[in-house]
Amino acid sequence: MSPFAKPETLRWVGDAGGYLRLLDQTKLPTEVVEVECRDVESVWQAIRQLQVRGAPAIGLAAAYGVCLGLQSVREANDEAFGKRLEEVTRYLAGSRPTAVNLFWALERMQRVGNESRGWRSPAAWHDALLEEARVIHEQDRATCHAIGRHGAALLPDPVGVLTHCNAGGLAASEYGTALAVLFTAQDQGKRLHVFVDETRPLLQGARLTAWELVQRQIPATLICDSMAAQVMREGRVQAVITGADRIAANGDTANKIGTYSVAVLARAHDIPLYVAAPCNTFDLSLASGDGIPIEQRAAEEITQGLGRQIAPAGIGVYNPAFDVTPATHITAIITERGVIAPVTRENIQRVVGGASR
Ligand code: MRU
Repeated sequence: MSPFAKPETLRWVGDAGGYLRLLDQTKLPTEVVEVECRDVESVWQAIRQLQVRGAPAIGLAAAYGVCLGLQSVREANDEAFGKRLEEVTRYLAGSRPTAVNLFWALERMQRVGNESRGWRSPAAWHDALLEEARVIHEQDRATCHAIGRHGAALLPDPVGVLTHCNAGGLAASEYGTALAVLFTAQDQGKRLHVFVDETRPLLQGARLTAWELVQRQIPATLICDSMAAQVMREGRVQAVITGADRIAANGDTANKIGTYSVAVLARAHDIPLYVAAPCNTFDLSLASGDGIPIEQRAAEEITQGLGRQIAPAGIGVYNPAFDVTPATHITAIITERGVIAPVTRENIQRVVGGASR
């Protein structure tokens, strides 16, 4: 095992009257700072401002956010508690649109809430919801480790791997998804060299993935997104691994903007592209990626990127936070239940089936 230890991405402190503590990802890698969320509004803000980000972590934060939002009605009557539960889940669902894990976690909280209606006191109801958030958190830990085991078996030794954005322990519990594959391969003694796309505009690769790899002492090289083709052409990459924010029933996959470009490059260089994601990242209600809502973010993330104004005022800006990689470009999807390959509607249904929402 690696001796690496970082503050937890997020954790609940105390009992049902407690609060949520988050590692502030906007401050990394230069500052390791935690923030305390003591109401549902601060969780909403933390998700929107990417203090907590990455599909599974967003879902976990939202589940705990529901608990915070219900603290004020713990001593109220059933009706007031039920009404507030509806209110806070609807509110949190508006924080970010693309990662389906957010909606999956909120639906799960609501289901547990509905099961408690009528026979539990609001206080016991609230306790049951906190317990559910903790169970979701615990299951996510186990899921990440299982994804790591299934994925590591796909990697040759030695191997050069390219990854985009951050799908590590910061984006989920402990090991993450795409990086879980690398951490597990490292634990198994495989020789890795990771190429880290910096991931414009918000640099989740340069700031977060690079930080996690340095902490774990995995040999890694940071590249600008525009350098991926050249690195592939030089024969340095034998596999591409990314995470996912939402996977449609046919395998089309939304992930951080730029993933699709990497997938096209991987295909042109005959390099396998693996998507690592838990079953709760699948949205089987969508026939294809065309139905995945793509978050649009503020123009300033581009015009004032890297901490200073880099484009003239008045320029038009397009800033989609995600793109969709067609299933045809994905060699395999690595889930906690096993590897889906080839990526077909039938294989997805067989592996994910009832596990999705
Ligand atoms: O905007 P972000 O940083 O939340 O985007 C994150 C990603 O695109 C990740 O690759 C994805 O959520 C998978 S995280 C295990």
